[in-house]
Amino acid sequence: MAEKHVVAKVADFADTDRKLVEVKGRPIVIFKLGEEWFGMLNRCPHQGGSLCAGHLISQVDSDRPGDYRLSRRGEILRCPWHGWEFDIRTGEACARPGKFRARPVGVSVLSADDTETVGDLELYDVSTEADLVVVEL
Ligand code: FES
Repeated sequence: MAEKHVVAKVADFADTDRKLVEVKGRPIVIFKLGEEWFGMLNRCPHQGGSLCAGHLISQVDSDRPGDYRLSRRGEILRCPWHGWEFDIRTGEACARPGKFRARPVGVSVLSADDTETVGDLELYDVSTEADLVVVEL
């Protein structure tokens, strides 16, 4: 069963859309996309590139050459090493879904009112009543 780990305050994401944290010795990258949160192991399944350093781009669809449509803005992560692309919702590789996948990690937000449900809160000063980012691993 996955344990919940408090890794950051929501306010830590005010100036960025991502944050690299370590949980149980594993590097986890957390993405904030609007009001949604996603996480994955910070290791590309191709050759181990740092996914935290990748670009968040749109999905591109096309029915014929010269005609394309952009959708799902910021939901596709491009690895900085060789350009493999992953769906940040599922970790699936866009070109080979079902074959390659960045390992997804559950991320949620815990309101200050619910802080008693997580065991490692001593890492953070919750007296500020800040909402917290929680990784399940
Ligand atoms: S290591 Fe990520 S695409 Fe090669």
